[in-house]
Amino acid sequence: NTNVSGVVSLFVFFLLGGAPEDQGKVRGAFAQKSITNPTITTCVILSGTTWMQEIVPLILSQGDPVVVDTVPNWDRVPWLHNNKALHLNLDQRPSPRVFITHFQYNMMSTGFLKVIYVMRNPRDVFTSCSHFSRMASFLVSPGTQTEFLNKFLDGKVIFGSWFDHVKGWLSATEQHIMYISYEEMILVGRLQIQLKKKPITDRCVFKNMKKNKMSNYSLVPNTIMDQNVSEFLRKGIAGDWKDHLTVAEAEHFDAFYQKKMQDVKYNFFWD
Ligand SMILES: *[C@@H]1O[C@H](CO)[C@@H](O)[C@H](O)[C@H]1NC(C)=O
Ligand SMILES: *[C@@H]1O[C@H](CO)[C@@H](O)[C@H](O)[C@H]1NC(C)=O
Repeated sequence: NTNVSGVVSLFVFFLLGGAPEDQGKVRGAFAQKSITNPTITTCVILSGTTWMQEIVPLILSQGDPVVVDTVPNWDRVPWLHNNKALHLNLDQRPSPRVFITHFQYNMMSTGFLKVIYVMRNPRDVFTSCSHFSRMASFLVSPGTQTEFLNKFLDGKVIFGSWFDHVKGWLSATEQHIMYISYEEMILVGRLQIQLKKKPITDRCVFKNMKKNKMSNYSLVPNTIMDQNVSEFLRKGIAGDWKDHLTVAEAEHFDAFYQKKMQDVKYNFFWD
């Protein structure tokens, strides 16, 4: 019953302010998008899912922050892959229904409507995943960095291979998939987002989401996610891998990436 043309407005309004070089990049990325009514946002783990759980509800509420201030992110944009989803009566939620998942493309049922697929430089995903694996008690310890890097490249981490995930979703034939990257979402902070002349940029900025207790996982007990070991929402930047990978590891990563991605035509923001 709520009629929303969220995502398009977001990106149209992206273009109203900010540095010209940023605008050029954003425009390039969004020129051909025609999604008006998002239903599912999906990505590899640690690529901006939590952030989308903040931005999309703010667009749907036309910038009214009540929903993000009062409802935990996992209830405002529920996880499809979590068994909690079985008890949330997802099909009875009011329209537009927005869900989130880490499912790979071949795990999706057919007939989904609109998808926002979020990607992030896999070197930063690896970096984030290393920190996450140390703080989340439900994950096995990452071991040494070399061991964990090999596991990551081989897809032996939660939700599988970054490469399979991204290649799968990029090969999707459905019309209504919008591809966006974490790196582009960072630009939100530098550009104005306005909906019906109401600026919502502030609430969409990573550092402000980080202060929102409904979004920063401080509601989760320390025994499950120990934010004293590593914060769940850390820096919200691109390129943190440069402080994390050794030169040799970065070269190994590059070689692996080139080989795996050589047949992919998509113009990634980080390449
Ligand atoms: C989460 O947000 C609350 C409220 O702003 C803040 O007190 C807390 O330090 C934040 N936690 C983390 C881990 O960022
Ligand atoms: C985490 O750190 C905070 C503040 O430094 C402290 O109050 C709390 O007891 C710590 N929690 C655990 C589980 O160590």
